[in-house]
Amino acid sequence: MGRVRSRRVGTEAFARLPFVLQDIEQDEAQALADARVAADAAALEAWRIRWIGANGRLKDLMDGLKSAPKDQKPALGKRLNAMKVALEAAFESRKSAVGGGAAAGPAIDLTEPGLPVGEGRRHILSRTIADIVQIFGRMGFEVAEGPEVEDEWHNFTALNIPEGHPAREPTDNFYMAEQGGVRRLLRTQTSTVQIRAMEARKPPLKVVAVGRVYRPDTHDATHYSMFHQIEGLYVDRGVTMVDLKTTLWHFARACFGPEAEVRMRPSFFPFTEPSAEVDMKMKIKGEWRWVELGGCGMVDPAVLQSVGVDPEEFTGFAFGLGVERIAMRRHGISDIRWLFDNDVRFLRQF
Ligand code: DAH
Repeated sequence: MGRVRSRRVGTEAFARLPFVLQDIEQDEAQALADARVAADAAALEAWRIRWIGANGRLKDLMDGLKSAPKDQKPALGKRLNAMKVALEAAFESRKSAVGGGAAAGPAIDLTEPGLPVGEGRRHILSRTIADIVQIFGRMGFEVAEGPEVEDEWHNFTALNIPEGHPAREPTDNFYMAEQGGVRRLLRTQTSTVQIRAMEARKPPLKVVAVGRVYRPDTHDATHYSMFHQIEGLYVDRGVTMVDLKTTLWHFARACFGPEAEVRMRPSFFPFTEPSAEVDMKMKIKGEWRWVELGGCGMVDPAVLQSVGVDPEEFTGFAFGLGVERIAMRRHGISDIRWLFDNDVRFLRQF
């Protein structure tokens, strides 16, 4: 706190008005500067006594006014009143900053940074799913749904996977206890929704289904016992492989950029004939690479028949892609487990 000059203002000083006004100016500036740095209620009280107290500097100046030459009194009086107002205002504002008088609670430091408020966001998988559904939506696909707890008819039989097929082995599936003669399982593929969609509605049918599937896999960087698939099904008169490839091509471009490409490699799935693996060429860390994303093919006539669709009249294509793979490739995530650990330090990066 600055030193208060203990000079008295007498008749002699007031004789030179401009100089006296300058002194008042200086006193006021000093007082205001001191008020701003009064660190706590006690320091502010000391300031008050020194400047605006009953025997303070302002009182001295006011007293001096009495002996000032008559013609200078109005100007000086006006100036001192302004100083009084300024000092009292400075005191009041500082008082609220240092927490009022001694009786008030602890001082609040208004310069202290606040606690950050955590910003929420959607999980990167949810956002990927929303993107995928939107892309297929633009191509005229509706969203279809089916249960995660399925019966064997929808997960296997109707999909041309007969009893005794190795895909039905208990070691490859999460079977549940039999109930009322029905054995259910956690679905291993979203292809179940193809059957449900065709049971619910006659073709033409153009749907996608996204959802969780379950397999007893040991967790590592690329495997998890639960993951997501996006299934597509288009059944109508005259649907061909060209429609299938075109659809996947459009998806690849929308999802991975205008230079992405699609490749189909001959393969086998019980529910499609012919069948193919789907690869998409995308840029990963500056390099173009083929990445396997799932399977596809023309819906097997036996599957159409199982839901009462005449394979002589209708044909269809189907595909199933891994959602985690898409999300991981798009965002440079190298370990699938991070997607499910729910560590916000990881998740908030996306
Ligand atoms: N359901 C298959 C799987 O989980 C993926 C698949 C392949 C789906 C071919 C299809 C398809 O619709 O036509 O491995």
